[in-house]
Amino acid sequence: MRTSSDTETELTEPVEIGGVELQNRLYRAPLLECAGNGPGAVETFVDELEPAAEAGAGLIFQGASIVTADGGCAAPNMTRVHDPDFVEGLSALTDRIHDHGSKIFMQLAAGGLRSLSMWHSEYRDNHPGEQQRAVSTPPIQLRVADRLGFIDLQPDVLSTTEVYDLAESFGRAAGYAVDAGYDGIHLSGANMGIIQQFLSPYYNDRDDEFADGVRFLLAIRDAVRKHAGSVPLLTKLPAETVSPPFVREGLTRKDGRIVAQRLEGAGYDGVVPVETSVYWDMSIIRGAYPDRAWNAADLQSEYADVFGSRVRARAVKTLNRLQARWFPHEAGWNGDFCRQVRDAVDIPVLCEGGIRTRADCERLLGESCDLVGMGRPFYAEPRLPVRLLSGERALCESCNNCTVPQAAGEPGRCRTPAIVRERARLEQQDSYNRNNQS
Ligand SMILES: Cc1cc2nc3c(=O)[nH]c(=O)nc-3n(C[C@H](O)[C@H](O)[C@H](O)COP(=O)(O)O)c2cc1C
Repeated sequence: MRTSSDTETELTEPVEIGGVELQNRLYRAPLLECAGNGPGAVETFVDELEPAAEAGAGLIFQGASIVTADGGCAAPNMTRVHDPDFVEGLSALTDRIHDHGSKIFMQLAAGGLRSLSMWHSEYRDNHPGEQQRAVSTPPIQLRVADRLGFIDLQPDVLSTTEVYDLAESFGRAAGYAVDAGYDGIHLSGANMGIIQQFLSPYYNDRDDEFADGVRFLLAIRDAVRKHAGSVPLLTKLPAETVSPPFVREGLTRKDGRIVAQRLEGAGYDGVVPVETSVYWDMSIIRGAYPDRAWNAADLQSEYADVFGSRVRARAVKTLNRLQARWFPHEAGWNGDFCRQVRDAVDIPVLCEGGIRTRADCERLLGESCDLVGMGRPFYAEPRLPVRLLSGERALCESCNNCTVPQAAGEPGRCRTPAIVRERARLEQQDSYNRNNQS
């Protein structure tokens, strides 16, 4: 166990995760690339991720990919990685990332209750009868929302054997990823997907060995080790500290520390502590209310069609507005939780959430974590590391105009004209050219 040190750690210092050496401590946090599995998927990944490597990010986390052949996608156009032939094609991506001296980890996920069939009306129409894999019978508040017609729950509570099968799907996908040249595996453990649902007392009411939700992460570890050997294995680690007040059960920071210690003991190579809620809300993407995105006229689908009706779309919009006020979004909002976890374990602790300057990165590296990451700023500036490493502030202002349109099938990109224009100006000045930096 270590205590948080005052020693200064620079962003440019190399660091190791599970035996993999990274050239610096800056990572691109997982963000959906919306690449799907169709023709052009690999090219989309290359277009989205190579610029970050070329610009000097030490580590790139690909956005969440789904380990099962059906169900489990939390958003439109997510990529599935159950098929070895498809994953093999991603070696074109990993080669390009490695050419620039960067490393890439695949993030694996399964949505559980947080799946398109639960909330996306058009998807449900196209996949009638599709159920959501569930840890237990959903909590009362979700059942009420279902009765009122705001969501569509069709839970399929997993048997013990099915839980092991699901863990095996994670392991198989990890094996395919390593064969395709990925340097590590990251688990999507804090986005209200099925891993968080296993960990959370709000969702987990099982009476088999998986009543202890950490056992699911241990089963995934076993499957990953079986199929992918000693590849570095990380997970996001939730503390459900910003759940609405009416939710009485949720993971505390102390629970998070204990889970982190158990994962370290089980051979996990790093954790990404995230303060979140039990619901799929804006707690992980805190920022402003995205007025422009809600009024966008250039979407592939109308929000009313996505959410099922104008009333439902308006309800989501109102919740979005309230959450923008509710969740505090100071720079590095997960820093305190990261520090507490870091005091309890020796494996690397990774911090992300609202970080926008090199000064913030180095403050957090000193106090709270071993690596720092950014998400939305990479939508705004795919070559961000060049400017950030030379001390410039990221352009992203957490306005969240990039987030809501993804529900309507739009790709992940910055949709705020002033920022898009500023990036274009910086590109013209060659500000993203690594060779021009001192
Ligand atoms: C559009 C969008 C998609 C995201 N997709 C993922 C994901 O696939 N997996 C994940 O663990 N986190 C995901 N995140 C969360 C980010 O990794 C990150 O934690 C969050 O955006 C906060 O960091 P930031 O303030 O630098 O954006 C996503 C965030 C956004 C905005």
